[in-house]
Amino acid sequence: MQNTPDGLDCPAGLKMAERKILVLFGSQTGTAEDMADRIGREARRRHFACRVEASDSYNVGNLIHESLVIFVCATTGQGDPPDNMRNFWRFIFRRNLPQNSLCRMDYAVLGLGDSSYPKFNFIAKKLHKRLLQLGAIPIVSPALGDEQHDLGPDAVVDPWLKDLWNKVLSLHPLPPGLSMISEDISLPPKFILHFLDQEAPADNSIVERVATCETPTELHPFQAPLVSNQRVTSADHFQDVRLIEFDITGSSIQFSPGDVVMIQPQNSPQNVEKFCALLRLDPKRMFLLEPQDSDTALPLQLPQPCTVRHLVEKYLDICCVPRRSFFQLLSYFSLDEQEKEKLQEFSSAAGQDELYTYCNRPRRTTLEVLVDFPHTSGFVPADYLLDLIPRIRPRAFSIASSLQAHPDRLQILMAVVQYRTRLHEPRQGLCSTWLASISPNDGVQIPLWVKKGSLKFPSVPDTPLIMVGPGTGVAPFHAAIEERAALNNTGNCLFFGCRGKDKDFYFQGDWAVLEKRGLLTLFTAFSRDQDEKIYVQHRIKENAAYLWDLIDRKQAYFYLAGNAQSIPTQVADALKEVFQNEGTMSTTEAEQYLNALDKSGRYQAETWS
Ligand code: 2AM
Repeated sequence: MQNTPDGLDCPAGLKMAERKILVLFGSQTGTAEDMADRIGREARRRHFACRVEASDSYNVGNLIHESLVIFVCATTGQGDPPDNMRNFWRFIFRRNLPQNSLCRMDYAVLGLGDSSYPKFNFIAKKLHKRLLQLGAIPIVSPALGDEQHDLGPDAVVDPWLKDLWNKVLSLHPLPPGLSMISEDISLPPKFILHFLDQEAPADNSIVERVATCETPTELHPFQAPLVSNQRVTSADHFQDVRLIEFDITGSSIQFSPGDVVMIQPQNSPQNVEKFCALLRLDPKRMFLLEPQDSDTALPLQLPQPCTVRHLVEKYLDICCVPRRSFFQLLSYFSLDEQEKEKLQEFSSAAGQDELYTYCNRPRRTTLEVLVDFPHTSGFVPADYLLDLIPRIRPRAFSIASSLQAHPDRLQILMAVVQYRTRLHEPRQGLCSTWLASISPNDGVQIPLWVKKGSLKFPSVPDTPLIMVGPGTGVAPFHAAIEERAALNNTGNCLFFGCRGKDKDFYFQGDWAVLEKRGLLTLFTAFSRDQDEKIYVQHRIKENAAYLWDLIDRKQAYFYLAGNAQSIPTQVADALKEVFQNEGTMSTTEAEQYLNALDKSGRYQAETWS
C-alpha cells in the first residue's frame, strides 16, 4: 500500500460520484466474502455500480473519494481482524489520521461472528466506532450476524439488508424510468469462459503456474512433497490422527514456534469426474477467463489458459455446504418446473427453515445437491460456475515441528475429519481426507505456505513456559519444546490431556527422551483410563504451588491451545483458583491478575472449533 499517514485529508469541493457503492470485506472462512457478493448483486439490481473487494486489495487512501461504503467483516476466534483485512485495519487505526477525514462518506457495517466466542463481533463494533471518529456517517446501525443462530447469520442479515436498501434508495432514488431488476432473472456472470479449440496436452503440464516469488504465498504456494504420513492413534481409537511431514527443501520457508502452515486442498478425482459428468463439462477442454467488467479482478490462483479439470479439481469448492445464493442462481437455469419451484423455495426467506433441514443440518455438499437436481445441473452455463460455487479455501494447521530440530522439514498433527449425519455417506473434511489419502511414494505435491500464528514465544532463553495442550492442541507446543530443547533451553512445562495412555498420547516417545534429558516437566491427564474423568485443569489445580511459583516468582508465560468448547473457560477458572489459593487473592483480584498476564502477553490462548 502506498498510503501516507495524511492520505485521508478531506479535499475541498470533492465531487462525489452518484449511484456508486463500494463493498469491502474482511473474510476468514468465506462467509463474509459470500455476504459481500450478495450485497454486490443486490446493489446491481438497484442500478448501482458496485465494486466488491477484500479490504486489503483496496487502496485505503482512496476511501475519501467514496460516497457509500458497506463493510462486511468477520471476527476471528481471538478477536482479530481476518487475514485479508489486516493492512486496512492497521491503516484505519493510525493515530495521526485527521478527525473528520471521512466526513463525506456514508457507510454501513455488517459484522459476522460467533457468539460462543468471548469477543463476539469485536471487529465490526470497533470498526463502526472508528469510522464515527473519522467523521463518516452511518446510514443504519451495525448488524451483528451470529453463526450460533439456528438459521445462521441470515436471521440478522435479512431484515438488516431490507432496512439498508430502504435507506440507500431514499438517499439515492432509482433514476427515472428505471425499476429494480427482478430477482427472477440472473444477472450477467462475473466472467466469460472462452473455450479454446485445442484440448489440454495429455500430461496436463501447461496449467501449473511456476512459483516466481521468493517466499511462498497464497498466490505462489510451494509444492511440497510429503515425506511421511503416520497414524498416531491406536487402531481401536475412535479418531484417526496423523503426523504428516513435508519436505520444504529449497522453498526459502522460515517459521518459528507458534506459526501456522496454510494448505490448499483439492477435490478427489472421483468427485471431479462426477461433477463434470453432471454439468456436462469436458474436463480436458481449455478456456480463457475474461472478466465482464473492469472492476472485477481475475482470480489469480487460476492459470490462463486453464483446463476444466484444473478449475474443478483445484478451485471450485464442490464439497462445501452450499449457501442460499447458490439455490437462487441455480433456480434460474432449471428447465424442470418441480425442481425450479423447490430451488426458489430454498432461496426465499420463507424457505430458510426447510433449507436448513435439507442442507445445513446434515451437511449436504454442493455436489450432492446437484445430484438431487439433475434437470437443473445439466443446464448450468459454464460462465456461471465461478458465481455459483465458491473457491476452495486454504486450511490452517499449527506447525508441530521446529526448524532447529528438523531442518527443511515441516510437520503437522492432523485429525482426519469424518462424522455421520442422517445422510448415508459419512461426511469427510476435504483437506484432511485428501492429505490422509496421500502416501510418500505417490509423488503428489502439496501446495503450502506459512503464516505468522497468534502464539508468540519469548526470545529470552530459559524463560519458563507453562503450556497446556489437550489433544491436537499440543502441536504448537511440540514445536516450541523441540526448538528450545535443540538450544538446550530449560523451563519447559507441559500439561497434556488425551483419552488414553495407549490410544492418543501424541509424541509420547519424544517427551520421554526430553524428560530424561531434564528439559521437560510433563503432566498428563488421561481422561478415560479410569472411571472418573481427569482433565488438564485437574492437574493444574493439583500442582497449584508449583505453578504459582513459576508464574509469580519466575515470571513464566502461560499458553493454552485447544478446541473452543468449554476448555478455555475451565482452564482459566483453574488458573484463577491457583491464584486465589496460592496468592491469597479474592475472586476479583485473581481475575485482575489473569487480565494483567493477558495484557502483558504472558497468558496466550489459541482456540478453534
Ligand atoms: P474426553 O473426550 O474423555 O471428554 C483431548 O480431546 C482431551 O481433552 C480428551 O481427553 C478429552 O476428554 C479432553 N477434554 C474434553 N473436554 C474437556 C474440557 N472441558 N476440559 C479439558 N479437557 C477436556
